[in-house]
Amino acid sequence: MKNILGIGAGYVGGPTMAMIAKKCPEYRVVVVDINPQRIVAWNSDQLPIYEPGLLELVQSARGKNLFFSTDIPKHIAEADIIFVSVNTPTKTFGLGAGKAADLQYWEKTAREIVKYSKTPKIIVEKSTVPVQTALAMQRILDANEAGIHFDVLSNPEFLAEGTAIRDLEYPDRVLIGSHETESGLKARDVLVNLYANWVPREKILATNVWSSEMSKLAANAFLAQRISSINSLTPFCEITGANIEEVGKAIGMDSRIGHYFLKPSVGFGGSCFKKDILNLVYLCEYHGLKEVATYWEQVVLMNEYQRTRFTRRILSAMFNTVAGKRIALFGFAFKANTGDTRESSAIRIAQELWQEHAKVVITDPKALDNARIDLKDILADIVLEPDPYQAARGSHAIAIITEWDEYRTLDYAKLYQSMEKPAFIFDGRNILKHRALYDIGFNVYPLGKPPLIHFGK
Ligand code: NAD
Ligand code: UGA
Repeated sequence: MKNILGIGAGYVGGPTMAMIAKKCPEYRVVVVDINPQRIVAWNSDQLPIYEPGLLELVQSARGKNLFFSTDIPKHIAEADIIFVSVNTPTKTFGLGAGKAADLQYWEKTAREIVKYSKTPKIIVEKSTVPVQTALAMQRILDANEAGIHFDVLSNPEFLAEGTAIRDLEYPDRVLIGSHETESGLKARDVLVNLYANWVPREKILATNVWSSEMSKLAANAFLAQRISSINSLTPFCEITGANIEEVGKAIGMDSRIGHYFLKPSVGFGGSCFKKDILNLVYLCEYHGLKEVATYWEQVVLMNEYQRTRFTRRILSAMFNTVAGKRIALFGFAFKANTGDTRESSAIRIAQELWQEHAKVVITDPKALDNARIDLKDILADIVLEPDPYQAARGSHAIAIITEWDEYRTLDYAKLYQSMEKPAFIFDGRNILKHRALYDIGFNVYPLGKPPLIHFGK
């Protein structure tokens, strides 16, 4: 039996390796991490991340051909193929701070591979990295004194949280970048055959390494750009009486535009969009492409604008003061069906409302533990409440931050009864029935539509 190792047991490494184990019973798959608590959790039924269908997937393979371990040296030594899914966050120090990718975890992994390897291996770059990172990886690996041969492939991951299992099982495409050398192409075939266990061949796309690395950054940049584009039109709609839902539908029906990623929001969150665009911006600046850098940076700046605009709208609607007013944030995760709060717009909105001396109450079905960590500096002044009805009780306003399905079907008449009057709803995801809420008595502020208010503007 051949051995696959996954280094990094996070949102990508855990689910991806579990899917490979399930679909490729001829391989023994081990996932390692430097964080022992994460490994303990992966070995339990309280997985370290929430993802629909993940527990069942892990349970179907764990102990058979899927194992989680902290013994990195042993498993590097045994592996034939190593997938590297360690984190590549934005650098917070030195040159490129705030934009460039921090490659320290990734480089440490490369050095560990060199240190513990005794046999040739295929190294698969799954983390999202700057273009040409595979070259640096290859150079570090080739510097091994034992003369071991390593082939580096780029195989970026396109899964989205909340739908990760479906995305892994039925990917739109699998991208494999390799060098055009004999051994590079041989390594590529090994990976193609691995994926061909469950992915149709025509969806497995082979490119050169740099195109593969670039395509990952480009895909995230394009997706985020669509959100910023639709969000940029929301204030315009609110002023003019145009309706962003109607606009989104009308432009999305043009098959050249398409309807995906045109939902207006409080701003995109998640660990990757901002980080990957800023990484692209940094690379452009590094290569002297100032205009290109400015173009892409605007996608992130528009997102920041949308977040702050949401808080300012709350403030101005509520008579320019929220001091002492209880405001219930419905949702803290960066999107529905995940407990992940990395870069969630909720963090900024909670902080800005707190700065205005509002009494912020946060409810979320899966993300309150992470909210506790994200807001640790202001936690003494914040209430975390799992029950939305309790969160709304005595509040002046509800702000929908995350599009959890359960927020669509709450008894809003009951919520209204328990709130201070005048009661406000700010729908940062446009998931509610605005006219019905208005009829109950709420003053309703959707995104990209004029507000429905019971008193003069
Ligand atoms: P994560 O922080 O959840 O997981 C990374 C894991 O790597 C952590 O558990 C960390 O302890 C571990 N790690 C770091 N250094 C290590 C080392 N030297 N040895 C062993 N383990 C080590 O990150 P993530 O969200 O899984 O993202 C990983 C990569 O995948 C990033 O480059 C990200 O851009 C990319 N990506 C993420 C997503 C997503 O949805 N989260 C989707 C596609 C791509
Ligand atoms: C995104 C990409 O969709 C994945 O393909 C990619 O692999 C991943 O980033 C990554 O590289 O990490 P993810 O961040 O998990 O996945 O989730 P998305 O569904 O893309 O949503 C990102 C953010 O955009 C969320 O805050 C979401 O609420 C927001 N969004 C999404 C909108 O505001 N409007 C939309 O129409 C769609």
